[in-house]
Amino acid sequence: MSRSARLVPAVASALALALTGTGCGGGVHGTPGGAGLRDPYFPKAGNGGYDVGHYALTLDYTPATRRLTGTAVITARATKDLSAFDLDLAGLHVDSVGVDGRDARYNRAGQELTVRPHDDLREGRTFRTTVRYSGVPRTLTDPDGSAEGWLTTADGALGLGEPVGSMAWFPGNHHPSDKASYDIAITVPQGLQAVSNGEPEGRSTRGGRTTYRWHTAQPMADYLVMVAIGHFDITRSKGPGGLPVLTAVDPTQAEASAGVLARLPEVVKWEEDTFGPYPFSSVGAVVDRPDDAGYALETQNRPVFPGAPELGTLVHELAHQWYGDSVTPKSWRDMWLNEGFATYAQWLWDEDHGGDTAEQTFLSYYRAHDDALWAFPPATPSNAAHISASPVYERGAMVLHKIRQKVGDEAFFALLRAWPASHRYGNASTADFTAWVQRRFPGKDFGEIWKDWLYGDGRPAHP
Ligand code: TRP
Ligand code: ZN
Repeated sequence: MSRSARLVPAVASALALALTGTGCGGGVHGTPGGAGLRDPYFPKAGNGGYDVGHYALTLDYTPATRRLTGTAVITARATKDLSAFDLDLAGLHVDSVGVDGRDARYNRAGQELTVRPHDDLREGRTFRTTVRYSGVPRTLTDPDGSAEGWLTTADGALGLGEPVGSMAWFPGNHHPSDKASYDIAITVPQGLQAVSNGEPEGRSTRGGRTTYRWHTAQPMADYLVMVAIGHFDITRSKGPGGLPVLTAVDPTQAEASAGVLARLPEVVKWEEDTFGPYPFSSVGAVVDRPDDAGYALETQNRPVFPGAPELGTLVHELAHQWYGDSVTPKSWRDMWLNEGFATYAQWLWDEDHGGDTAEQTFLSYYRAHDDALWAFPPATPSNAAHISASPVYERGAMVLHKIRQKVGDEAFFALLRAWPASHRYGNASTADFTAWVQRRFPGKDFGEIWKDWLYGDGRPAHP
C-alpha cells in the first residue's frame, strides 16, 4: 500500500480520505505502526514503525499531593509510512498530544497511547511528538512481584524502569532496543533536590519551586532512566582520568555510605582496567533509604541503591555500565548478557582483591546442588517472572567462566574488553554474542558450552 501511494499520490490521497476520513499529507498513505515489538517476555513493550532519537521530559512533582505534571517532547524517525503510532504510557491523564506543532487525535487502551497525526508520516521523516500529561503516577508490580515505575519514598519519589516501569511516568517507546539521548528537567518544591542520569545543567528557583536540569548525551535505554526526588547530600568530584563523579545520598544514609562511596573511583578504575574505557561522560550513585526500593538498579551513569550498598553491589551495578547500559540486550530474553557479566565482575573483583578465585566461586556454585540455580537455562528464562532469577545471574556468570577455561586468561580478558568495545552504545542478543565469540576463535569449538551451559536444561554432568 505505501509503495503504490508514493507512485500515485492523488489517487492514494483520495483513497485514504475515502477509507478513513482523515487528511493524508503529501500523498503519503501510511498504516499504523503497531502496538508492540513482540518481545518474548513483554510483547506489548515498545512499539513499531519509528525509532526515537531524543526525549525532552519536563516534569513537575509535589510529594505532598503525589501529583506529577509532565511534558514529553519525543523526536523520532518513521521507519515506515505511518498513519498512526503508539506510545507506552500506564495510568496518568493525557491532556493533549501534538505532532510537529499540530494537534493530533489519540486514544488509550491499556498501556497503549495511540497517536494519529494530522498528516501521515512518510518513512524516513523525523517528527516531533509532544504529550502533555498529569496525575498521580502508579507504582507497577513486576511479574516477579517487585515494585517499579513510580515509587513514593520517605521524602519524595523514585522513578525506576526495569523492566517496564518507565511507562508509569513518561510516554515513550519503552523497549530496550530503542535507545535515545535525554534532557530531563524536574521541578520540585524549593528545599528538595531532583537527581537524574547524565550531567547536571543547572537549576533555577522561581516562586518557591526549583527546577533541576539533567542531560544524557549517550544513548540510554528507557529502563535505565531514573529520577530521584527528596533530600540529598550532593557531592561532585573527579574520578579516574578526570571523569566527573556525582553522588546523591539521603542524609540518613550518609554515614553508612561514606566508606563504600569513597571507593567508587577505585572501583571505576579497576573496571576500566578490566573492561576497557568507561563508556559514559559521568559516573556516580544515588543512595536512598533501605525501604525506598526493593533492589539496586544500574540506572545509567548513576545506579540507585536502597540504603548504603555493599562493595560487591557497587561493583555489580557499575559493571552494568559496560554490560547492559552501553551494550544493551535486544530483548528481555537476553538478560543474562547483563546479569551474567555483572555477576562475573563481582567474582573477578574478589579474585583480584584477596578473595576466592572465580574458579573457586564457580565450583562452589556447581557443587552446591541448589535446584533453583538449575531451574532453567540462562539464555531462556522460563517466563517473565524469572528474568532476574539465579540462573540468569550465577549460571550466566558460569557460562563466562566456561569460556575463560576454554580460551585461557589472556584471550578471555581481551574478550571482556572487546565485547563492550565492539557493541558500544548498541544492542546485542545471545545469538549475537555466541556468533561473535565463535568468530573470534575460529579454531575452537564452543558448541558444548552453548548446549550445556547456556541453553541446556539442568546441571551439566561435569563442572
Ligand atoms: N538489574 C538489577 C541488578 O541486578 C536487578 C533488578 C531490579 C532487575 N529490577 C529488575 C532485574 C527487574 C530484572 C528485572 O542490579
Ligand atoms: Zn545486575
